[in-house]
Amino acid sequence: MSNIVIVGAQWGDEGKGKIVDMFTEYADLIVRFQGGNNAGHTIVVDGEKTVLHLIPSGILHPNKKCIIGNGVVVDPEVLIEEIDALKKRGRFDDERLLISEDAHMIMPYHKKIDAAMESIRGTRKIGTTGRGIGPAYEDKTARTGLRFADLIDEKVFREKLKFALMEKNHILSSLFHQSGFEVHDIYEQYMQYAERLGRYVANTSIYINDEIKKGKKVMFEGAQGTLLDVDHGTYPYVTSSNTVAGGACCGAGVGPTHIDKVIGISKAYTTRVGEGPFPTELTDMTGDWLREKGQEFGATTGRPRRCGWFDAVVLRHAARVNGLSGMAITKLDILSGLSKIKICTGYRFEGKIYNEFPSNPRVLNGAEPLYEEMDGWVEDLSSVKDIDSLPYNAKKYLKRIEELSGVETTLVSVGMERDQTILIKNPFR
Ligand code: GDP
Ligand code: IMO
Ligand code: MG
Repeated sequence: MSNIVIVGAQWGDEGKGKIVDMFTEYADLIVRFQGGNNAGHTIVVDGEKTVLHLIPSGILHPNKKCIIGNGVVVDPEVLIEEIDALKKRGRFDDERLLISEDAHMIMPYHKKIDAAMESIRGTRKIGTTGRGIGPAYEDKTARTGLRFADLIDEKVFREKLKFALMEKNHILSSLFHQSGFEVHDIYEQYMQYAERLGRYVANTSIYINDEIKKGKKVMFEGAQGTLLDVDHGTYPYVTSSNTVAGGACCGAGVGPTHIDKVIGISKAYTTRVGEGPFPTELTDMTGDWLREKGQEFGATTGRPRRCGWFDAVVLRHAARVNGLSGMAITKLDILSGLSKIKICTGYRFEGKIYNEFPSNPRVLNGAEPLYEEMDGWVEDLSSVKDIDSLPYNAKKYLKRIEELSGVETTLVSVGMERDQTILIKNPFR
């Protein structure tokens, strides 16, 4: 049995898409378990770039089954666009996708409310992706959401939609002074989606558990990152789901006894998109250099990503809340050319040292990072195939990350391409 959870160990965009695509060779099923099209997972194969927002990053491998679990919030329009774009390139078969009947849908009013809420937050805005993610999860928890099980029964859908619009139109008009939606319009639009997507809708918990019983290998693909988790992240500057490994069980309908390993993905430095605390952020030339060299622009919104040094406090936190069994360090190639590289080992605030990630926003916002400085390297790493061939200082840097985070590095990524990967230990074996 070898069922693996892949999670982001920082603030998202760690390179999960690349790593999930690379590991798909060893898995049978790839399951997304949370988030929605706030995610942008980039895969590059033979120079061809694919950005996936909803479909699991295993889709580029023929014959592998991809599942959108119940924990995901799905914008049907975006999913259809994604399917069509992949079909056009001969990268999609209908038999390879399943959508959980319990997955909630993003509705047009969720997007409108997302934007409206951000506009009234002013300086306290979260910097959301504007995709309706928060409002969709709010409805799920408030028990007013619409699921795929509702979509494929038109009577149920119409009833639930009517009820939801009563509330949403009231909120839009009285709170935000904006126009609402007509039942008929959304109904017609979503019935078209039902026609397109109905064939993929299934009880995916039964499907996944049956496959596990048969000895098939499952890879659970996380979106966002640990520090964006609604419980364990930099609240309230987080997304609205559990991005940590535990979320894989709730978001896919499998028990924790079926999970064997958890691999955390971390960049060799740190990035963040949107607002919120980021202790090691560099607002100087080095930050700009990292953004340019690392092409750090959001895969979903195109926003420039904030960049900073590697933060071992973040990694220790991620190791604990996810129970990481191994770590993949990505984008090590980007650091080539820096004479000195810094690693944050702790924070100082009002004379006190913090070795663990603090929850108090005042501490986080004022945290002064405590750095260790290491010598850099100049060699180009993009064609390095084994760990021993890395420059001495790069190996030393990786070793120090391992020591400070307490997690073994099982993979190092040195480029965007599938084969620009140094696999030290295969979690599926
Ligand atoms: P995800 O959301 O975690 O899947 O990450 P994104 O796709 O949003 O962002 C990661 C970016 O880094 C993508 O453009 C990847 O193609 C790229 N990438 C991933 N690993 C590496 C690497 O090791 N080196 C370089 N240079 N780029 C990488
Ligand atoms: P992947 O899967 C990076 C951030 C947004 C914002 C916050 C809340 O590609 O790593 P939301 O729209 O979710 O309500 O926004 O979370 N965010 C991400 N940042 N990568 C992502 O996904 C993200 N998904 C959401 O920028 O700060
Ligand atoms: Mg991304």
